[in-house]
Parts: sequence; structure tokens; C-alpha cells
Amino acid sequence: MRVDEGLLKNLIQVNVEGTTKVTQAVLQGMLKKKKGAIVNIGSGAAIVIPSDPLYALYAATKAYIDQFSRCLYVEYKNSGIDVQCQVPLYVATKMASIRRSSFWVPSSDCYARAGLRAIGYEPRCTPYWPHSLLWGLIQLLPESMVDSWRLGFCLGIRKRGQLKDSGKKE
Ligand SMILES: NC(=O)c1ccc[n+]([C@@H]2O[C@H](COP(=O)([O-])OP(=O)(O)OC[C@H]3O[C@@H](n4cnc5c(N)ncnc54)[C@H](OP(=O)(O)O)[C@@H]3O)[C@@H](O)[C@H]2O)c1
Repeated sequence: MRVDEGLLKNLIQVNVEGTTKVTQAVLQGMLKKKKGAIVNIGSGAAIVIPSDPLYALYAATKAYIDQFSRCLYVEYKNSGIDVQCQVPLYVATKMASIRRSSFWVPSSDCYARAGLRAIGYEPRCTPYWPHSLLWGLIQLLPESMVDSWRLGFCLGIRKRGQLKDSGKKE
């Protein structure tokens, strides 16, 4: 497993420590008021596809967010606090390196509107309906088929990144 030390630290700090500590901080006030909603952002990388090769750390930290949210949902639902994990597939953002939105890849504004509408319903959801459709279709396929498609897809991303980097150095 090859991973930059800085990236490793940041991923755990943002996705694991950050999510845990911010949740802990807001829960106290919500418990006093006996109401509130906590929305954590998971990823299809950990939940929709059976594996995300070459993105193992990212997917693993997102799996943490998913299970963390689900446990808290059960723990606090009788205290008036709704904990939800929203599971996006691709969204056109800086992080995903996708500039143009499309039917399957919404803009962040479009995704956020769908996300807001989904608060208060299931403990885990994918708010943008074309993503739910893809999720359903992926579930119909054998896991080994999705695994090998994903490996090929991620190897392609790595190759393009390496070519870009080598072009920059020349
Ligand atoms: N876009 C997708 O396809 C996709 C799919 C599944 C899940 N998600 C999840 O959706 C969430 C939002 O991502 P996005 O796609 O909207 O990406 P984005 O537009 O690039 O936003 C990422 C945010 O994280 C902040 N950030 C990055 N590194 C950080 C660090 N080390 N410390 C503190 N903050 C940091 C960025 O701050 P700056 O603006 O200051 O850089 C930015 O506000 C993430 O949890 C991501 O994993 C996204």
C-alpha cells in the first residue's frame, strides 16, 4: 500500500477525528434542547461499491463515518436527535476533479438541495435520486464484477495522474 504520510494524517484527521469531535461538540446542546439533526457525509466508495481499490484509506475512513452515524442514530433517536449519513456518488466538485455536472454527476448546489430535502428520513440515504438508481443497479451485479471494473477504473485514474505528473516535470 503506497500512501503519502501527509495524506494519511489528513484523511484520518478530517474524516475520523473531525467527524467524531464535531459530533461530540454539537450533541451536548442538542441533548439539552431535546432536538437536533446531525448529517454526516459518507461516500459510495464505502457503501455502494464493494471495494475501492487504490482508495483504501479514503473508503475505510468513510466506512467509519457510516457505522459511527448508524450507531448514534439508534442511541439518540429517542432523545429527539436525528443522526443521518448521506451517501453521495460522484458530485462535480474540486475534490472529485469533475468540472462539469451532468444527470449522473450533479453540481454541488443541486446535490445540497437534494441533501436538505432528505434530512429527517432514513438513517442512511443517497439523496440525489439518479444516484439511488445507480446504487440499485450496482446491487444487481455480482461483487466480483464490480470489483474488477473498479480496479480497472482506478488504475486508469492513477495512470492519467502519473502521466500528468511526468509531463509537469519535463
Ligand atoms: N465530490 C464527490 O464526488 C464526492 C463523492 C462522495 C463523497 N464526497 C464527500 O463529500 C464531502 C465534500 O466534498 P466535496 O466533493 O464537496 O469536495 P470539495 O468541494 O473539494 O470540498 C472539500 C472540503 O473539505 C475541506 N478540506 C479539504 N482538506 C481539508 C483539511 N486537510 N482540513 C480541513 N478541511 C479540509 C476543503 O476546504 P478548502 O475549500 O479550504 O480546500 C473543502 O471545504 C467530502 O466528505 C467527500 O468525501 C464527495
